[in-house]
Amino acid sequence: MMPKSYRFVQILLVAVTSYVIINIMLALLAETRWPKKIPYVSHGATGDETFEAIQNETLGFQHIYAIGLPERTDKRDFLSLAASMTGFKLDWLNGVRPDSLTQKAMPKHEALISIQGMNFSSVAPNIVACWRAHMNALVKIVENSFKTALIMEDDVDWDVNIKTQLMEFARGLHAVQGNKKVQPEVPCGLNLDVLWIGGCISGPSSNETHFYAIPNDPTVASVEQRAGVAGIPEIWKSVSQKTPRDTYIGLKRDAACMVMR
Ligand SMILES: *[C@@H]1O[C@H](CO)[C@@H](O)[C@H](O)[C@H]1NC(C)=O
Ligand SMILES: *[C@@H]1O[C@H](CO)[C@@H](O)[C@H](O)[C@H]1NC(C)=O
Ligand SMILES: *[C@@H]1O[C@H](CO)[C@@H](O)[C@H](O)[C@H]1NC(C)=O
Repeated sequence: MMPKSYRFVQILLVAVTSYVIINIMLALLAETRWPKKIPYVSHGATGDETFEAIQNETLGFQHIYAIGLPERTDKRDFLSLAASMTGFKLDWLNGVRPDSLTQKAMPKHEALISIQGMNFSSVAPNIVACWRAHMNALVKIVENSFKTALIMEDDVDWDVNIKTQLMEFARGLHAVQGNKKVQPEVPCGLNLDVLWIGGCISGPSSNETHFYAIPNDPTVASVEQRAGVAGIPEIWKSVSQKTPRDTYIGLKRDAACMVMR
């Protein structure tokens, strides 16, 4: 949940559930080193040229941060190489060690404590450290006055078609919000605080009916293999075309969070 002060800072957290993406990568690699033709899954009304900025070296955001512990050079090697191959640039931020945290610095707000559990007695310190690392990234974004930024953790993985996928994501994002006009210099818009792609532990509210479905998305694992954290809401399944490889993009209004699964 984002504090109010970050209301105009839109963050895209790539919380990609690695097991899904690894499956996709393995499936792709099994067939051919790179897909011969990048699949086009678009079916929205807005043309691709509107989202052209997504092809740039920060994926249409103002900046891309990657969070990782400095000694995990193996992960840095992997991620920097993968980003270079895909055509985007990372700015590394150091991860946070649990032993550098103090309970006194944790959020004091009652609601936040009960929802987020920022209490060392009830939450594993490494989870709190992960939260702190993301807070440090948010501080950088505020200090640099970035309107948009992408934050990645060092175990993230992505499909080689990420730029095409993000264009479709942006299109779906505007569709679920009912936006008629898109500013090409802010492809994902500025109406939401957090965009969460690849999977989101919070999931949409159970009564949330606004969603955008990409039927037979060739870049995702089948629906049965995606029964991870919160699964796909029944209501979405019941209205969708129910192909084995649907991708869903929906809003989580109470947290102003965009969920893709
Ligand atoms: C942290 O959690 C423990 C156990 O649930 C509780 O006893 C304690 O009062 C909590 N501390 C704070 C600061 O909320
Ligand atoms: C990429 O595009 C976005 C959106 O137009 C822009 O804010 C950002 O500065 C661009 N990045 C680069 C490296 O050109
Ligand atoms: C959905 O449920 C939440 C409570 O769980 C409620 O606050 C919200 O107004 C509901 N939304 C709709 C569209 O019914």
